[in-house]
Amino acid sequence: MGSINQDLKPITTTVDESGNLQIGGCSLVELTEKYGTPLYVIDEETLRGICKDYKRAFPNVNMMYASKALCTSAIAKILSSEDFGFDTVSAGEIYTCKNAGVDMKKILFNGNNKSYDEIKLALDFDIGRFSVDNFFELSLLNEIAKSENKYVDILLRITPGIECHTHEYIQTGHLDSKFGFDLTQIDEAVEPIENEYKNLRLRGLHAHIGSQIFETQVFKDEIEILVREISRLNKKFNIKLDEINLGGGIGVKYTQKDNPPSVFDIAKVIFESLEENIQKYNIERPTIFIEPGRSIISTSGVTLYTVGSSKQVPNGKKYVALDGGMADNPRPSLYEAEYTAQVANAKENKKIEKVTLAGKYCESGDILIKDILLPELEEGDIICVYNTGAYNYSMASNYNRREKPAMVLVNKSQSDIIVKRETLDDIISKDVIPERLKG
Ligand code: LLP
Repeated sequence: MGSINQDLKPITTTVDESGNLQIGGCSLVELTEKYGTPLYVIDEETLRGICKDYKRAFPNVNMMYASKALCTSAIAKILSSEDFGFDTVSAGEIYTCKNAGVDMKKILFNGNNKSYDEIKLALDFDIGRFSVDNFFELSLLNEIAKSENKYVDILLRITPGIECHTHEYIQTGHLDSKFGFDLTQIDEAVEPIENEYKNLRLRGLHAHIGSQIFETQVFKDEIEILVREISRLNKKFNIKLDEINLGGGIGVKYTQKDNPPSVFDIAKVIFESLEENIQKYNIERPTIFIEPGRSIISTSGVTLYTVGSSKQVPNGKKYVALDGGMADNPRPSLYEAEYTAQVANAKENKKIEKVTLAGKYCESGDILIKDILLPELEEGDIICVYNTGAYNYSMASNYNRREKPAMVLVNKSQSDIIVKRETLDDIISKDVIPERLKG
C-alpha cells in the first residue's frame, strides 16, 4: 500500500480550467497576491493524510512527531489533534508545544547538550520523557531533578553503529557520532542510574539512525540491536526495560528519481523484526515509539516565489532569480538537496527551456534548483517549489537581514496565516545602540 511520503506534491494539488495551480482548493497566484512572496504554504489535508497513513501502518505504536522538521504553534495543534506526541530538542520547541496546548506528558526531550535552563523548564512543565544522550547529562539531570524533588522517566540514547546511505551530515547512528552512548558504554551508564541517580527511572532505549532513508533493512538491524541490548541489560541488572524508541528517518520524494518506501513497507519490516527478535532474545513485547519528522510534514509544504531578474551567461547557463533562496531554504546549499518546481500561473508561452533557479542572497552557492526544464519565465511569474515542509522554515535564517517569509495553512479553499511575515521592524527589534555611540 502506498503512503503520502511517496508523493511529490500535496495530495490536493490540481490545475484549474485556466491553467493555474491550486492547493487545498486555493489558487496559488491568489495566495501570493494576498500574502506576498516568498510564501510557505502547508496543505492541511496532506498533513492529516500522512498522520492517518502512519496510524494505520503502526497500530499500537506511539507516534512522536520530530518537531525539529517544522515547529509552529498551529502545526503542533494539528499534530496533537491527530494524537501525536512530540520529539523536541530545545526549550523553544517545548515552549511552542506548551503554547499550542499539547499534553506535556507526550513530550520527549532529546539532544546532546541540553542546558541547565532547558532541563529546568522541561521539568517545570512535567514533560513525559528525557532521552539522555551522555554521562554529563545523566548526572546533571539527576541533580536538577533531585533539587526539584522530581522523578524523571528516561531513555538512553544509544549509537547502534548502523551505516545508512544518506548525506553524511544527516547520518547519526554510525559509530563516530556526537550523539548517544556507544554500545560499549551502555552498562557504564546504566550502573549509576540503578545505584546512584535515584531521581532517574530508566524505561528503555532510544536510537535514531539517520534521515531521508530509503532502505528498509536498516530498521530491521536497528530493532535487533535494541532488543538484544534490552534483553542483555534486563538480565545483567535485573531490571525491566520495556520501551524502545526507533527515532525517525523515513525518506520523502523530492524529485521524480527518489523512491522512498511507503510507511506500510517500513512498518512490515519493523513488526517482523520485532517478532523475530522478541523470540530470539526472549523479552516481553516492549512499547514502541517512532519519531518521524520529515516524512510527516515535508510533502504538505510548498514554497511560492516570484520571478525577478535573469541572466544568460554567454555560451553558458541561464540563471533566473527568485525573491527567496538560501535564507528560506538552506538545504540545496547545505546538502546539495534537489527539489522539483513548477510555474504556478498559467503560461501562454509554452516554450520549454533549461534554467537554473537562483536565490537572491549574496553568495554564489545560493542556487535553489540547477538545470530545470520550465516554460520560458518572465518577471512576475510564480514558482512553486514542492516538498519544502520539512527543514525549510525550521532552518531559515535572516541572512542579508532578510525578513523570514509568512506561512499559510490551506484547507477546503480557505487560507489562514499560521506564521506572520517578519517586518523590517522585526529585523532591527533586537538591535541595541549603546548610549555612548549615540550623539
Ligand atoms: N529523532 C531524532 C533523534 C533525530 O535526530 C531526528 C532528526 C529525527 C527523529 C527526525 O528525523 P526525520 O524523520 O525528520 O528524518 N536538517 C536535515 C535533517 C536533520 C535531521 C536530524 N535529526 C535536513 O534538512 O535534511
